Amino acid sequence: MKVTDAQMLISAVSETQYPKEGLPEIVLSGRSNVGKSSLINRLLSRKSLARTSSQPGKTQTLNFYQVNHVLNLVDVPGYGYAKVSKSQREKFGQIIEHYLMSRQELKGAVILVDARHEPTADDQSMYHYVDYYDVPILVVATKIDKITRNQRAKSLQRIRQVLEMPQDSPLQPFSATTGEGASEVWQWIEHRMKD
Ligand code: GTP
Ligand code: MG
Repeated sequence: MKVTDAQMLISAVSETQYPKEGLPEIVLSGRSNVGKSSLINRLLSRKSLARTSSQPGKTQTLNFYQVNHVLNLVDVPGYGYAKVSKSQREKFGQIIEHYLMSRQELKGAVILVDARHEPTADDQSMYHYVDYYDVPILVVATKIDKITRNQRAKSLQRIRQVLEMPQDSPLQPFSATTGEGASEVWQWIEHRMKD
């Protein structure tokens, strides 16, 4: 998609604040620091619309970004960050669960995992969880610029194995730094918007 207009709509702390225009939505989820905000900025060709940080746990609300007035991208709180208190974590969990369960506008989920590491137990539960609610999933292996060409196939295979992804389920290598994979992610999103 050629992005001509991108704006941060709202950082929602409660459901009453979710956008009401009924535009299709794609949710982005993944461990803290995996690169969700960076992926959004890359997709939207904006340097810092979504706040990125080397300090994990920065995004703690559902952040809605509206693109060309036809689509919302939703950045959700990163999970698995130890320094966030248990009660805070449970609260985020409930917000996400409720969103996945009830949001009519939701057309797909992009689940980000770090290409450098084996997916964590949190990544596994998130994948199975979203799958359970029948939300179509694109798994994105982020920070692919940080591993060598040789490590690539192995890393992708490991992700597929650990998440127990079906063979026909899409897995896209991605780098917010180089832009690799951005057009493929867009293609997937645009396809999902039509459903
Ligand atoms: P939370 O909001 O805390 O959940 O984190 P996040 O998932 O939004 O991660 P964010 O986009 O803030 O990125 C975390 C750090 O990783 C930042 O320092 C980014 O610059 C870096 N980063 C993100 N994506 C990439 C990538 O593709 N390649 C490289 N080399 N670094 C990346
Ligand atoms: Mg973020």
